[in-house]
Amino acid sequence: MLSPEDNALLTQTDAVTPMGRLFRRYWVPALLTEEVPAPDCPPVKVRLLGEDLVAFRDTSGRVGLLGEHCAHRGTSLFYGRNEECGLRCIYHGWKYDVEGNVLDTPAEPAGSTFAQRLRHTAYPTTEVGGMVFAYLGPRERTPPFPEYEWTSIPTEQTYVTKCLLECNYLQGLEGESDNAHLEYLHRTAPNREALIGWAPDNPDWDTEETDFGVRYVAVRPREGGRTDVRVKSFVLPASAFLGVNLANKGEGYEVHTYIPADDHTTWRFDFGFRRFMPDAPRPVHRRKQIGPDYRRVRTMRNHYLQDRELQRTVDFTGIEDFLNEDSCATETMGPIVDRAREHLGMSDRAVIAIRRYLLDTVQAFQAGDTLDSFVTDPAHNSFRHADALHAEIDGADWRAAFPHLTLRRP
Ligand code: FES
Ligand SMILES: [Fe+2]
Repeated sequence: MLSPEDNALLTQTDAVTPMGRLFRRYWVPALLTEEVPAPDCPPVKVRLLGEDLVAFRDTSGRVGLLGEHCAHRGTSLFYGRNEECGLRCIYHGWKYDVEGNVLDTPAEPAGSTFAQRLRHTAYPTTEVGGMVFAYLGPRERTPPFPEYEWTSIPTEQTYVTKCLLECNYLQGLEGESDNAHLEYLHRTAPNREALIGWAPDNPDWDTEETDFGVRYVAVRPREGGRTDVRVKSFVLPASAFLGVNLANKGEGYEVHTYIPADDHTTWRFDFGFRRFMPDAPRPVHRRKQIGPDYRRVRTMRNHYLQDRELQRTVDFTGIEDFLNEDSCATETMGPIVDRAREHLGMSDRAVIAIRRYLLDTVQAFQAGDTLDSFVTDPAHNSFRHADALHAEIDGADWRAAFPHLTLRRP
């Protein structure tokens, strides 16, 4: 459980809050590349960390992320004209470049220097893996983009989806570290007998703090003294690196990131990569659950289109797809769950470890404005030891089998 004060500390992310300031010290995914596919294409709205923004790709291909409301008198730049290396407001024609410079104020007298004295809200962006990342923190503290293994994988070997989760980011993020739910929430069976009459394969849990976050490890004894090991990582500020079936074969893993749109809604980005491309990419199951507006088809309002007959017979939830099952589990807690009312058990060890780590991190940040995981020196900008895997090892000592997983920094 968490006290109401600690719960507020972790879940509030406006610019003036400690967690909001912490989020703003990292590069975070803001939108998908596919939303601004070509130079001078229509701008799109982006709600991020409680701010209303507009993204556009200018004539030279750069992606700008501007405050939505025009600096003149506040008209939405979403309706603006994207032309000749800038976004022009439709009310009186003020024009902005991707850096927030005011290029033109045509209604002002000739020779006016008014525009040169103005700077509109604009955040730097960079594109990796089909996502546009943004940095919303102080300019002079902009960190280099972190080097994970997946950041160097060619985009053709990656896939990504985005959708809105209708609750606070921490509920989504905690769901990623909660391995115990896999046996229940995502359970399907060939028939009713198998659905209700199974013995869960509960793992032992281990966690390990690193410089980038927390590694959590599910360990299950197997025949002949062997051990099944599943390793996932919580990576600051709000990602989980986790193996899907790709991890079994060493092919790659997924990165699920939960970035607040505001404190009651969250953008969930699910990114995956394949180290090798032996065949064509498989279709991404999540895609057909998400509409063109990046909202799920199945929501709280339609009870996730739950099928009670399916639930009675072969599917634990009667709700189609992992994405909807996860969303139902986390959204129905309420927009911000009261963590003082929980009763955490042994299977919640990873959830507890991540909360502890986040609390320690944000409290240290509050006290000293520093973060262990900050990288300012490009020479130390490597997080390739952040990893996710699923393997069977001889013996039970996963630390001995995978020494790189115990490193704070290689
Ligand atoms: S409100 Fe945008 S130019 Fe006047
Ligand atoms: Fe899940």
